[in-house]
Amino acid sequence: MIYDLENKVVIISGAARGVGREMVLAFIAQRAKVVAADRDASGLAETCANLPQVVQVIADVSTVEGSQAIVNASIQGFGRLDVCVNNAAVAPHTALLDETAEVWDKVYAVNCRGTFLMTQAAARAMIVGKRGGRIINFSSGASKRGSPGAAAYASSRAATEVFSRVAAIELAPYNILVNTVSPGLIDTQPIPRPATMDARLQARIPTLPLARPGKPQEVVDVVLFLASDASSYITGAVMDVDGGSSIGARAAGAVMDDDPRYNWVTGRDARNNPYIERKP
Ligand SMILES: NC(=O)c1ccc[n+]([C@@H]2O[C@H](COP(=O)([O-])OP(=O)(O)OC[C@H]3O[C@@H](n4cnc5c(N)ncnc54)[C@H](O)[C@@H]3O)[C@@H](O)[C@H]2O)c1
Repeated sequence: MIYDLENKVVIISGAARGVGREMVLAFIAQRAKVVAADRDASGLAETCANLPQVVQVIADVSTVEGSQAIVNASIQGFGRLDVCVNNAAVAPHTALLDETAEVWDKVYAVNCRGTFLMTQAAARAMIVGKRGGRIINFSSGASKRGSPGAAAYASSRAATEVFSRVAAIELAPYNILVNTVSPGLIDTQPIPRPATMDARLQARIPTLPLARPGKPQEVVDVVLFLASDASSYITGAVMDVDGGSSIGARAAGAVMDDDPRYNWVTGRDARNNPYIERKP
């Protein structure tokens, strides 16, 4: 995908691996100016190994100081902020009956408070800059389903979607567009996959409408679109990037059945159908 993002100043949080890492590379390829942030210093250094032009910030988005430091770095490094991609998140899975309040609070601190703090700090900087801007938050297909093991994660991502709608309305007068990307299963799991995760994914993948996980690049393409002028009339939207998994599952057998009640609709012959009462 090619959009005109040259010289746009872009913050990407969660840049130490996965989708965030791919986003750093993609925005640099579009000649944007990138601030890459993460709490994982070594992963971030790996992402930026051959990219001396990227400003790296080691920070925790769930703290006021951390989120402000990331936004400050864009102003100090490049003089302004155009796009803020709030991709950093945590997704531990635990049975509801085993979930602890501590884990619940950590998930909400990163996924909800982090998204709020980053959105607020970025919006304030964009308003000072008087050039409008784009804020792109992240959700998950898990927010729409009752995914077992995802009580904290799925509900925190649903909260992100609603938060983003509020932000879209409040920031619209400043021409700051706020949208949410909601990925389905994306191929960012650790290699080798832990055993239980592997078994769960092996069972799930064939049920996905496209019967494959998405590639990180397929999420990145939508983020580039939302950062570009091509999406100038979109705000408050949730973009599902999930190969259709939020709207249904791949059928396990034949789609057509032989229900004789609808022979009058389908025109199928009832004579050989044992369920139809035959007239003499
Ligand atoms: N991979 C998937 O299957 C999938 C599915 C649905 C939604 N998503 C969403 O897509 C986004 C990217 O997913 P991913 O698989 O690349 O994630 P990931 O877990 O691979 O990477 C997340 C990054 O965020 C960083 N991070 C976590 N907490 C942080 C904090 N407090 N401060 C700063 N950085 C922090 C981590 O260090 C990591 O580098 C996430 O928002 C996730 O919720 C992913």
